[in-house]
Amino acid sequence: MKENIKGNVSWVGYLDWELQKFHGDDFTITNGSSQNAYLVEEGKTVLIDTVWTPHRSEFVDNLRKEVGLENIDMVVMNHGEADHSGALPELMKELSDVPIYCTANAVKSLEGQYGKKGWDLRTVKTGDSVDIGNGKKFVFIEMRMLHWPDSMATYLTGDNILFSNDAFGQHFAVGGLFNDTADLCLLEKEAMRYYANILNPFSSFVTKKIDEIRSMGLPIDMIAPSHGAIWRDEPMQIVRKYSEWAAGYREDQLTIVYDTMWEGTAAIAHGIAAAAGRISPETMVKVFNCSKADKSEIMAEVFKSKAVAVGSPTVVGDVLTSVSGTVRYMKSLKFKGKKAGAFGCYGWSGEGVAVLKKELAEAGFQVVEESIRSMWKPDEKDLASAEQLAKALLK
Ligand code: FEO
Repeated sequence: MKENIKGNVSWVGYLDWELQKFHGDDFTITNGSSQNAYLVEEGKTVLIDTVWTPHRSEFVDNLRKEVGLENIDMVVMNHGEADHSGALPELMKELSDVPIYCTANAVKSLEGQYGKKGWDLRTVKTGDSVDIGNGKKFVFIEMRMLHWPDSMATYLTGDNILFSNDAFGQHFAVGGLFNDTADLCLLEKEAMRYYANILNPFSSFVTKKIDEIRSMGLPIDMIAPSHGAIWRDEPMQIVRKYSEWAAGYREDQLTIVYDTMWEGTAAIAHGIAAAAGRISPETMVKVFNCSKADKSEIMAEVFKSKAVAVGSPTVVGDVLTSVSGTVRYMKSLKFKGKKAGAFGCYGWSGEGVAVLKKELAEAGFQVVEESIRSMWKPDEKDLASAEQLAKALLK
């Protein structure tokens, strides 16, 4: 498939309606995804990025049919991760003399994954440009840590398109390709879930990069990321969102995450939710059993929250692995400016709540004093302390 998106620029990627998981099992795909590759046909014909390995044959065959492989003059690899570079080895079997423009770090990632193939890898830095004919050029912008050290964006003058790679993307299959053809509720949800799970650890880089791109004074009429909808209608809306999300984003939300053995810790979780509803009816309260709910969804809800309450029963002096894994995931995403509280049942030694408080503090949360530590099963006193914990988290 080759779909014109603007001027002489076409989308030649892969709409991945069937994709279920990404980054191992960590990111659940609920609304499909896409690997967006683009073709620019000016004086030179340029391919920007490829697609994931399983779709390599279809991708190369499509280019052969739609443009003719012999007509491709250069390739730009904005990022070396396999979802964008996976089809490159197959393609380069037929384009061995064609130069590949990428960052110095992308040389490491491409050669690290595919070996030294003798490709003509030409490294570029921020501000470097290359003439592609018809009075147009590419300007390269390193996007280090958005989200890999090798990431880069490519700007096309004249059409004013920023090919931003992973930044500003979403795991979301949009048949019409553009943001103005997408379900807008899903688009915002998936853009935020993508940011929370993939970009949030690098928020300080996001803020600096947006400032840098703004200072370059490049007019931007379209942002074409490597996943999901292309931002055609008001493209700068997603840049403004990223600025907001990168600055310690919080909504008036409490997210309660727990696992339970014999329903006692579940009862406390529900008690905290009920108490929060009484204390602050306007606060959005969400409850997840982390052994059953989707991990990336939980992380997106934590991203939105001003506070979390995390609960586990004590198990051999520790907490359930589902809970420790969830807190570990939260830690890796480097959330900032959020409160946290701990709760849980125990039968004998009861270390679980202390373990959780320590791990939540290490994960960067401001842990409140109040907690609920319930022996055997929650009684009225324990459930009354749910009120105290909810107050501490919401005040
Ligand atoms: Fe979409 Fe970092 O790859």
